[in-house]
Amino acid sequence: MAVIDFFSLDIKNKRVLIREDLNVPITEGTVDSDARILAAIPTIEHAVSAGAQVILMSHLGRPEEGLPIAAQPTFSLRPVADRLQTLTGYTVELVTDYLDGLDGSESDIVMLENVRINLGEKVNEESLSRRLAALCDVYVMDAFATAHRAQASTEGIIRFAPIACAGPLLSAELEALAAVLTKPDRPLVAIVGGSKVSTKLVVLEALGSKVDQLLVGGGIANTFLAATGVAIGKSLCEMDMLDFARDMLKTVDIPLPTDVVVSTDTKGPARVCSVSEIHSDEIILDIGPESTAALNALVSSAGTIIWNGPVGVFEIEQFSSGTKGLADAIAASSAFSMAGGGDTLAAIEKFGVEADLSYISTGGGAFLEFIEGKKLPAVQALQARARASEK
Ligand code: 3PG
Repeated sequence: MAVIDFFSLDIKNKRVLIREDLNVPITEGTVDSDARILAAIPTIEHAVSAGAQVILMSHLGRPEEGLPIAAQPTFSLRPVADRLQTLTGYTVELVTDYLDGLDGSESDIVMLENVRINLGEKVNEESLSRRLAALCDVYVMDAFATAHRAQASTEGIIRFAPIACAGPLLSAELEALAAVLTKPDRPLVAIVGGSKVSTKLVVLEALGSKVDQLLVGGGIANTFLAATGVAIGKSLCEMDMLDFARDMLKTVDIPLPTDVVVSTDTKGPARVCSVSEIHSDEIILDIGPESTAALNALVSSAGTIIWNGPVGVFEIEQFSSGTKGLADAIAASSAFSMAGGGDTLAAIEKFGVEADLSYISTGGGAFLEFIEGKKLPAVQALQARARASEK
C-alpha cells in the first residue's frame, strides 16, 4: 500500500525531522556497532545535500521517562552524535531542550537527545506527538527497527506533521522482506535460532507455512530434540513447548542436529558427541561438525535464505563453530540471503560476512513482527497519511 516517498519531496530550506533507529550498543561511551548508523547515513546525506535543515531523532535503550538525561547519562545519544560526525564529516549538534522549539543552528545536523526521556513517548501521547510535529515541515519515518512501536516519535507524530513520508531505509527494508516472503526463489530455507521456542512461537508458525525447510538452532533445537525423545541432559529446554514442537514436526520439514558440542558448563571442556550420547549432567552449547555440514548443504542448495538467531553460544570460541560454519555457508551461497535480529547481526559482524549477505535488516523485533505477519503501526500511519493526501 502506498506511502509518500521522501525522494518525491522538495525539501530545500525546509525543516526536515528524520526519525532513525540509532539504538546501538555502547560500552563506556564508545559505539560498539556502526551498523544502524551506517544504514541511516544515505537518508541523512540526501536531506543535507538537498538543502534541508536536518533534525535527527532517535531513542537509545529504555531510559526512564520524565527523568532528565543528566540524571541518566548512559542513555545519552552523545556517543552516537560524535560517531555520526566522524563517519559523515557533517557537524552534528546534540540538543537537550527541544520540545518548545529549536533555535537556528550553524551545524549541518541537529540531533535531538533520546526521545524516550520525554513523558508520553511510550504511550503515544497526543500532546507530545503534536509538540514533536511542530518542530518540522516534513517528518521522515526511516526507523524500520522501531516501526513496530506505536510511540509518539514513530506513530503519533505522523498524524500531526505537516507532511509525513517514508524514508528510503524504511522502504528498502519493507520491500526486501516482502520480496522474500511473497515471491522467494525456491527452495526457501529459514534458520531460526535462539534460546526459547516460546519467544519465537509465532515466527516459527508463520515461517512453517511458507518455507521448504526450517532449520532450528540453540535452545529451540533442544526443545525439538526433546520432543523426539532425545535425552538432552541439562540443556535449556521448554517442557511446555514439547507438544507444539511435535505438531510442527508432523507438518514441516525440520531437520534436527545429529551431533552436538556439549559441556557441563560454558567454561568447561567441550566434547563432540552424537545426540544419543549426551550425559545427564551435560548441556548442548553448539551443533557438531556432522550437523553443521548437513545444515550447510541445505543452505548451499537454497534459492532464498532467511536467518534469525545463532545455532550455538557463538560468543565463546569453543562453541562458535556451528554458527561460524552457518555464516560462512550463507555468505558463500548464491541464494538471496536476508538476516535480522540483534544476535544474528552480532554473529555476522563477528565472522565478518556483512558484505556477502544480500540484505541485512536493521530490525530486531520489527523484523520478527513483519515475518509474523503483523502490521507495523508506523507504516499503517504513513499509509493513512498517503491516502488522505490523495483526497
Ligand atoms: C531494537 O533494538 O529492536 C529497537 O531499537 C527497538 O527497541 P525497543 O525494543 O526498546 O523498542
